Amino acid sequence: MAPETTSGPKALIAPSVLSADFGRLAEQVQAVTEAGADLIHVDVMDGVFVPNISFGEVVVDAIRAATHLPLNIHLMIQEPDNLLPTFIKAETDQILVHAEACRHLHRTVARIREQGNQAGVAINPGTPVTAVEEVLPLLDIVMVMSVNPGFAGQSFIPESVGKIRRLRRIIDETALPAQVEVDGGIKADWTAQESVKAGAAILVAGSAIFNNRETVPEAMRGMRGCLAGPP
Ligand code: DX5
Ligand code: ZN
Repeated sequence: MAPETTSGPKALIAPSVLSADFGRLAEQVQAVTEAGADLIHVDVMDGVFVPNISFGEVVVDAIRAATHLPLNIHLMIQEPDNLLPTFIKAETDQILVHAEACRHLHRTVARIREQGNQAGVAINPGTPVTAVEEVLPLLDIVMVMSVNPGFAGQSFIPESVGKIRRLRRIIDETALPAQVEVDGGIKADWTAQESVKAGAAILVAGSAIFNNRETVPEAMRGMRGCLAGPP
């Protein structure tokens, strides 16, 4: 899953269904699946940890039924422990919790791993990379939020590039397997390119993939195309 240095994909693309047309949700999930998405990013918001509510279990079930791809489930939930069984639907699904939302982050991550799932921790723009250092050996993914979570369509915070680089360096120095994911404001432009150059292996993209300017296949081609150029 590490980014390739010679040929092949330089990063995995995880379209966020938050920007999809929910009147045609299954169809939209199928469209990104057929257009070559690697993962489906699923944003669960509780209205407490973030100032917005998105959807819960029944919608995650509908997404799960519409694709064979692993779900990359981003839990923006304060103290998510009791709800973990609700959202862990398949062993291939990746579960990401927020460092800021978990009083006992180590325990929460360990619980996800006990289920056999890949575990990730997300950090907000205002949270230092050191917030994940002690749990790094348990992690498959560290996700750098490049916007403040809660809404799709926000602008990428440029300082996130340096943060991805610092995090990647810490992971490399300790020879751990965790991958870096970036979420928020990623477009088919410098935001995707610089994030990958800095070490991101998974790119979340919501409004860049689901929008009314282009079709899903066109948007996916645009994102892949912008990553295909010389490093
Ligand atoms: C924001 C969510 C993101 C969002 C990304 O809180 O976590 O996943 O859907 O949307 P864009 O790509 O439009 O910034
Ligand atoms: Zn997200």
